[in-house]
Amino acid sequence: MPDPVVRDAETGWWHVGTDAGVRAVLGDPARCSSAPMGALDRVLIGADPPEHAPVRRLVGAALRATAVPDDRIAAIAGKLLYPVVRAGGGDAVQQLARPLAARVTAAQLGLDPAHADDLLRFGDAVADVADFAPADAEAFLALDLAVARWAAQRRVCPTGDGISIVVTGARGQANLRSGQVRSLIRLLVVAGIVTSARLSAGALLAVASDPGLQAEVRATPALVPRVVEEVLRRDPPLRFILREVVGEGLEIDGVALPAGATLACRLDGANRDPAAHPDPDRFDIERDESHLAFGAGAHRCPGAGLARRQAKVLLELVLARTTQLGLAGDVSWERDRHLQGPAAVPLRVSNV
Ligand code: HEM
Repeated sequence: MPDPVVRDAETGWWHVGTDAGVRAVLGDPARCSSAPMGALDRVLIGADPPEHAPVRRLVGAALRATAVPDDRIAAIAGKLLYPVVRAGGGDAVQQLARPLAARVTAAQLGLDPAHADDLLRFGDAVADVADFAPADAEAFLALDLAVARWAAQRRVCPTGDGISIVVTGARGQANLRSGQVRSLIRLLVVAGIVTSARLSAGALLAVASDPGLQAEVRATPALVPRVVEEVLRRDPPLRFILREVVGEGLEIDGVALPAGATLACRLDGANRDPAAHPDPDRFDIERDESHLAFGAGAHRCPGAGLARRQAKVLLELVLARTTQLGLAGDVSWERDRHLQGPAAVPLRVSNV
């Protein structure tokens, strides 16, 4: 049973841990402000209505216009997979999921794939900042400088890539100042990398560690999206998102919440709420309940489709290019305050 609403003495946050409670908070932006998400960015993810909507439209348009098609994702994944198959195995996190997420992000934003390692460093640095411990301040500064350079280049010479669309649309459509534009681009650079990498690695782990599931999915590849969905449900990469109570009178799951209270909407708790997901700890691809891994309401993740497609295409390709997939050693799992997912998944593959 998840805890309904509990105050954490250390942080002072109120943790909301049920599916219904989290949906109630995320569906009520007038009384539950996104301001605490402003630690990441104040222009989109930390903005409230009415300022949020025009920026969201701009980002939605940029992501749609620059959507990376499945065959491009497969081409990127194929290059990463080749040495793993040749070697008979490798680490699904470092050799497949993380570089795939970084290269797909580069493709979407219009950055040289040679920047992929930098993007991973930036993603990790910002994940640390979100965890309130900026372990790699140098990487954070480097991200700022790189974003300023990319934005300036596209302002002079737009190319139709993701950054160009944001830069050119920002003034007219969303009335943003240049510092705000840079904040938005920083968010787009980092939001999808560390999260999508954890999802893709989780999907590979699920299949590599369960021979029965693997046989089922090999026999019916159309089940791959269900595996991806169940990884999102059982182990959402982002464990919680924050909101702040505006005004008096908010009650969630029978608990009165004071004005100014910080709410931690536990996506990991809600996704294992037995009232919404019977037998919640069981990995079960037959479920068709909706989950909260991508949030809900006005801020629901606009990159959800891309993240799902990356994991799906990678898993399909691994299954198509191998006859057997297993684990060659111990898996390690990373769970910090904000994020969770596999840190190392040593795969053994054969294709005979
Ligand atoms: C498995 C991968 C991903 C997970 C688990 C995830 C999770 C989330 C969640 C929970 C939110 C809602 C935040 C809130 O309500 O405060 C969000 C927002 C956002 N995500 Fe994702 N995300 C993923 C991938 C991506 C990708 C690939 C992109 C970029 C293409 C992306 C871009 C964004 C942006 C820009 C927002 C802010 C939207 C807004 O505030 O309106 N995400 N994400």
